[in-house]
Amino acid sequence: MMSPVSRGLAALLFMTGSALAAAPDIDGYVNSGVTLDGIGRSYMGREIAHVMGHEGADWLDRPERDKEESSSRVVPLLGLKPTDIVADIGAGSGYFTFRMSAAVPQGRVYAVDIQKEMLDMIKARQGNAANITTVLGGIGDPRLPVGGVDLILLVDAYHEFSRPREMGLAIMRALKPGGRIALVEYRGEDQKVPIKDIHRMTQAQAKKEMAVLGLVWQRTDDSLPWQHVMFFAKPTTP
Ligand SMILES: C[S@@+](CC[C@H](N)C(=O)[O-])C[C@H]1O[C@@H](n2cnc3c(N)ncnc32)[C@H](O)[C@@H]1O
Repeated sequence: MMSPVSRGLAALLFMTGSALAAAPDIDGYVNSGVTLDGIGRSYMGREIAHVMGHEGADWLDRPERDKEESSSRVVPLLGLKPTDIVADIGAGSGYFTFRMSAAVPQGRVYAVDIQKEMLDMIKARQGNAANITTVLGGIGDPRLPVGGVDLILLVDAYHEFSRPREMGLAIMRALKPGGRIALVEYRGEDQKVPIKDIHRMTQAQAKKEMAVLGLVWQRTDDSLPWQHVMFFAKPTTP
């Protein structure tokens, strides 16, 4: 019997998109040539964006962010319980880490990033928020406890993962059965959203990439002005 991941991979191999037809390996990656904002690799037909450097952290903390993006409404949408164990992968300077920390006072927040400088900013602001653990992740491994996480939040980060397949498989391992991810990405379908195409995702693309991991789409909240908040769950039975 094939596992959901094997089934997903098999489905991926039989997809007929031109990029995939030229796929040089079995993991869905294609070398697509370096562009201004891309790393020169595509995954399942989507060009992967450069990582936002820690030098740009001010943009994440800009005072007008909430007015533009209603970012403060994200954590209330997650339906967290006070005891939940959560992770903020691609935490950046901690905008969502601190909000989740307040929402899970008896739980824990793993703030994961591949840039130590970002984690240093979180540590510098941590104060009394003792339920935050910073984790220096690898490009294909968020280094989370296996089967230990109720919800993983990914805000404006997944499209930057240079190894989305490996990250996705690691996310599946980290989630408890029934655990969820909230994938927040600028809406790829809406040209009015003032963000370059490479930094957005359509729902169709996100669903395709999550399905090959075995994640099941639950719902999409489109109440934010610019972003989809897409919820996916790990099945309770393998
Ligand atoms: C655009 S920032 C968003 C930060 C934060 N989520 C926010 O919205 O304020 C994306 C972050 O993802 C991080 N990142 C990129 N690839 C990553 C990976 N494979 N694992 C963990 N973090 C990653 C980057 O270092 C960067 O800090």
